[in-house]
Amino acid sequence: MHLKHLSLTNFRSFSRLDLELPREIFLLVGDNAQGKTTLLEAIYLLSTFTSFHASTDRQLISFAAIDDHIAVSRIVGEVQRGDQTHRVEVRLILEPNSINGNLRFRKEVLLDGVKRKLSEVIGTLNAVLFLPQMARIIEEGPAERRRYLDMLISQVSPQYVRHLGDYSQTLSQRNALLKQLAERGGDRGQLAVWDGMLARHGAFIMRERILAIREMEIEAQRVHYALTRGQEVLRLDYQPAYDPLVVSDGQMALPVKTIADRSGFSSEEIQDGLLEALKQNQGEEIARGMTTVGPHRDELRFLSNQIDLGDFGSRGQGRTALLAMKLAEVNWLHQRSGEWPVLLLDEIMSELDTERRKDLLKGLADCEQAVLTTTDLAMVEPEFAETHPIWRVENGLVSTDTYHR
Ligand SMILES: Nc1ncnc2c1ncn2[C@@H]1O[C@H](COP(=O)(O)OP(=O)(O)OP(=O)(O)O)[C@@H](O)[C@H]1O
Ligand SMILES: [Mg+2]
Repeated sequence: MHLKHLSLTNFRSFSRLDLELPREIFLLVGDNAQGKTTLLEAIYLLSTFTSFHASTDRQLISFAAIDDHIAVSRIVGEVQRGDQTHRVEVRLILEPNSINGNLRFRKEVLLDGVKRKLSEVIGTLNAVLFLPQMARIIEEGPAERRRYLDMLISQVSPQYVRHLGDYSQTLSQRNALLKQLAERGGDRGQLAVWDGMLARHGAFIMRERILAIREMEIEAQRVHYALTRGQEVLRLDYQPAYDPLVVSDGQMALPVKTIADRSGFSSEEIQDGLLEALKQNQGEEIARGMTTVGPHRDELRFLSNQIDLGDFGSRGQGRTALLAMKLAEVNWLHQRSGEWPVLLLDEIMSELDTERRKDLLKGLADCEQAVLTTTDLAMVEPEFAETHPIWRVENGLVSTDTYHR
């Protein structure tokens, strides 16, 4: 698949932009703060409908457009998928709420001009985004890694998006009830209905995570091995908060050191086990007023040569693992959807030494469409620069006449 056209209105530093995009690998060159990353972010938003950072969707609206009435930011893309073309639109809206006039943020998603639920539009455009600052996926807390997994799986499974939404709603209702039981007491039997729903949605999420992590590990390991010149072996260690491998006495069902493979568990088995775990933990959960088992507490660790990169990895090792994950996503999304995702690589050249840069550029040959950014054209191999379009980004404008050194 590829993005044929992108138009932006009031999106960060772009008040207005209309751009035909080529179906090939191309390069955006520009000084700092000119809008390169913003363009990649806009394209990514059309695939996941959320910015990479958890809390920044509202910050995407152009400062200039915000006054005390209403501000709308629009990102519209024309996507070619096989022989079909679709128009995907995201609107970010800041408007005063009717009660106290405070500005309220909301988001609308449209497919071919019609407002839709997110789960109905997701997957129309698939994209893989690499930003150097995404190293936080490896370095920071588990919430970053759950979010990473969720955004990845959501691109190929609308059902996953629905289950995630239902799970999170059920979780807040169950937590509210737990708090109420802790503070005022009452009939614990009321929990049963929430337990059942939580186990059902939770099992679906866990099963998808198990499969995705297993498939991604195979892809990422291969890329990572090549990137590290055979020096390091990457492993993805899924550590679910409710683990179907742990039998009821708290012991692992497998001998220590055996690689944990949970792919043999069906959703039903996971659901039954999770339900049982919720029941067993009921007393403690009421005392703490919150749900302590389930996929909202899952962890995923990145190991290289059995060393945990989050705790002990060097900065470079973290970046390399992240890049391996991103390139693995390309193949994984292709396997799952039958289409190549659009690859968005921000400042990738400065992340790699000369040899690895060459390898990477060669490896991109399979992609249908990829956008790379750089501040410094000298970082790009001359052969590559001569054979791909180079566009200049300057002060919120994009000049598409191929730029020559
Ligand atoms: N909501 C917003 N409204 C207006 N401008 C914004 C908004 N958010 C960010 N900007 C500005 O947009 C500009 C472009 O930022 P961007 O990160 O895209 O630049 P860049 O070309 O990637 O630069 P660098 O090479 O430093 O990474 C910055 O000056 C930034 O301050
Ligand atoms: Mg940038």
